[in-house]
Amino acid sequence: MCWIFAYKWDKEASPFLLEWLKNLEYRGYDSAGICEINKAGEFYIEKAVWKVSNLATKVENSDKELEWYNTWIAHTRWATHGKVTMENTHPHYSKNERFFIVHNGIIENYIELKKELEDRGYTFYGETDTEIVAKLIEDMFETDIETTIKKVFRRITWAYALGVIDRQEPDTLIWVKIWSPLVLGLAEWEYFLSSDANALARFAKTYINLDDWEMVVIKGNTHKIISLDSGLSLDKQIEDITYSEDNYALWDFSHFMEKEIFQVPEIIDNFIKWRIDFETLEIKSNTLEELAAKDFKRIEIIASWTSYNAGMTASYLFEELASIPTTVYVSTEFKYKKKFINTDTLYIFISQSGETADSLESLKVVKNKWGFTFWIVNVVGSSIARLSDLGLYTHSGREVWVAATKSFIGQIWVLLIMALYLGNKKDLEYTKYKEILACMQKLKDNVSLVLLESQKIQKVAKKYAHYKDMFFLWRNIQYPMAMEWSLKCKEITYNHTEAYSAGELKHGPLSLIEPSFPTLLINPEGRFTDKNVSTLKEIKARDGLVIWLITKWDKNKDLYDDVIEIPHTIEELSIFPVSVALQLFAYYAARELDREIDKPRNLAKSVTVE
Ligand code: F6R
Repeated sequence: MCWIFAYKWDKEASPFLLEWLKNLEYRGYDSAGICEINKAGEFYIEKAVWKVSNLATKVENSDKELEWYNTWIAHTRWATHGKVTMENTHPHYSKNERFFIVHNGIIENYIELKKELEDRGYTFYGETDTEIVAKLIEDMFETDIETTIKKVFRRITWAYALGVIDRQEPDTLIWVKIWSPLVLGLAEWEYFLSSDANALARFAKTYINLDDWEMVVIKGNTHKIISLDSGLSLDKQIEDITYSEDNYALWDFSHFMEKEIFQVPEIIDNFIKWRIDFETLEIKSNTLEELAAKDFKRIEIIASWTSYNAGMTASYLFEELASIPTTVYVSTEFKYKKKFINTDTLYIFISQSGETADSLESLKVVKNKWGFTFWIVNVVGSSIARLSDLGLYTHSGREVWVAATKSFIGQIWVLLIMALYLGNKKDLEYTKYKEILACMQKLKDNVSLVLLESQKIQKVAKKYAHYKDMFFLWRNIQYPMAMEWSLKCKEITYNHTEAYSAGELKHGPLSLIEPSFPTLLINPEGRFTDKNVSTLKEIKARDGLVIWLITKWDKNKDLYDDVIEIPHTIEELSIFPVSVALQLFAYYAARELDREIDKPRNLAKSVTVE
């Protein structure tokens, strides 16, 4: 699914470019490949299945002098069309081995194009849609590569970013962007193209965000960006890239997931400094002021999994604190359901990456019908942020590897702030507002205490990692927490976990309870404690094992099998310590099973295909 490219002029290229490719591996790690050409049109292509380090080993052992090559395309793959094989690994090439391409996205009409090409005598070495484009370029070639690509793009339907090199024009590099993300990084005498700006941070100082239906042509050391609609050259805004070495270092942690969970107190601290004045009890945000003035009567939230779970949490917050009825949709479903877009409704799109294709497409549908769109995004300058009407960043820092942790905390924090702000402008009781803000001031310490007790959580996780099935249960605002941590455990332990509202257990899932099927019951102090004790008893009556996630005051110690304790805070804020405790639980369970935690099988961080 994902790729990068680097173009250099008159300088050594390869060693650091492989390093760079590793930075993009989070976008897909099924296989990786590079193709480099020099000014004489000689080429070197190398591919490897699975990790970029496998590719790096092959490159290191090759007798090619890599510094010699100036133009470079590379790709890390998340398989869509065809298995994870060498044949299907990018870059792909034409029959005459003149054109090499890498591609992120899906060519929807590839079967039709393949048939046409087969009728004209072409054969195919692999199963990918990308190889078909390489052969189509050869088939449609006319005059030069720029003219040819302008014709070819009209034949291939839609949703891709595509990079092409032509050995007959070795100083030219062409990219086309339609829906899949693409940025152009600029440095002295160098150009970089990449699926996102994050991966450019070490190498380029500035970048240009490319929009749909745009083409980049780099010739020698000049570049132009052309509109594919009008054919005109465009003058695009150049933005700065911020780079911090800390984002790339693992410090003393074993995995990036662990590091990112341990960054949560710092993130909470930053949020508090930026947004809340505890003297005046004011939330400071011009964006929220503008939003409140619009007085929306309903909210619809659209997002994909972890971000959807943050949206589900927000639906409780918006309804309880701001009295605004809220509905939440997974973007894959929202996109295709009948829409009743109206001006009284606020449409919120939540996304860590800001590039998730399903959410982006849903956003475009709402915008086309004149709905007011609001983004909550982590990656600065990403497509969802650029396309929506208004929004807030979650400022959770760079989150690279697959499991979303600190960004989820950032999302629920921003959503809580929004609900409080809008509630305060409406009918939220001032005493409640003040109580929540006062407790928010202590939240950093509260979450830090959970991290301090991480060894206790590790002990419980080690035991339960060996059960193949598990339920996560809770009621009300903690229900999305159960959904989120069931998802996290699935992703990185490969165990089967399911989340239910605790009250629903007796309506069916209870039949699965037996000693080999444990339940994690989330029960911080609050309105639902007694009801959860009833659920606990129902499970114990059927010999089920129970981990009880509680605040320290609990008095049911003899009822459950194991316990995870969290410090007390008010109900609305307990989602924060609960989240961190369960993130640690999932992390330690996966570690016990010796899983590849930062790169779980079959997944990629940023899902830019539908
Ligand atoms: C799970 C996870 C995914 C993402 C989902 C949406 O740990 O990270 O479920 O939440 O792919 O991604 P974003 O938030 O980037 O839109």
